[in-house]
Amino acid sequence: MSFPGNGRQVDVLEDISLTIPRDQFVSVVGRSGCGKSTLLRIISNLIAPSRGNVRINGMSSEDYQRRRKFGFVFQEACLFPWKTALQNVELPLEIMGMKSTSKRRERARELLGLVRLDGFEDHYPAQLSGGMRQRVAIARALSYEPEFLLMDEPFGALDDFTRREMHDELINIWKSRSLTVLFVTHSLSEALYLSDQIVVMAPRPGRIRAVVPVIEPRVADPAIRASANYARQIQQLETLLHEQ
Ligand SMILES: Nc1ncnc2c1ncn2[C@@H]1O[C@H](COP(=O)(O)OP(=O)(O)OP(=O)(O)O)[C@@H](O)[C@H]1O
Ligand SMILES: [Mg+2]
Repeated sequence: MSFPGNGRQVDVLEDISLTIPRDQFVSVVGRSGCGKSTLLRIISNLIAPSRGNVRINGMSSEDYQRRRKFGFVFQEACLFPWKTALQNVELPLEIMGMKSTSKRRERARELLGLVRLDGFEDHYPAQLSGGMRQRVAIARALSYEPEFLLMDEPFGALDDFTRREMHDELINIWKSRSLTVLFVTHSLSEALYLSDQIVVMAPRPGRIRAVVPVIEPRVADPAIRASANYARQIQQLETLLHEQ
């Protein structure tokens, strides 16, 4: 991927070749500016690559997007402030043509329950905490049952405690359905806790330095964070990240 710069083009991603197995949870780590968000945007067909292509289940990402198989969660929840939590989750269903208001409401309620926001259906985003808003955004992204969820630093703005709660919730959601996740994060420990594999990127131009399988994926036990395997893998990832 190259962008036109001032006078000369900027090469942002080079020689990217990556296979993401269905139903896996894969994280992408790398320093700021190495092209993680750009990679997610290319995969989800928000922008077209300068060269190369994306295939998902044998489809182009354009066809895949047209079938609404992607879900997207950004760093900021990006909710409509004038709509309640319930209405924010309902909106994609409405756009997709689910005509019955009662069915939409029921579905949206179910999803808010899944992210443990029962009782907050009628709250506006401004009346919710950052973690709650992010949970609404996750419920919204799941509303039309995506097969492939792309998450770009979704918990970056949360405190450690809330972030850890969100990890266990996300693991439960992932386990409860058939879902492939590509998750961008700055936190190695977050990547390790959630993923099957971790893609380590190098900067300028963005490349894939290594794809690291996680030794004990998704134990969903906070105590794992203190284990020797965990420390060893963090060390391994640190070394890969800082290698010149
Ligand atoms: N539309 C664009 N036009 C020109 N350059 C761009 C554009 N989008 C991204 N870039 C450049 O591409 C590089 C990678 O950006 P990207 O947002 O993908 O990085 P990132 O890895 O997500 O960083 P961060 O961790 O800070 O979010 C940056 O140098 C950025 O300036
Ligand atoms: Mg980014």
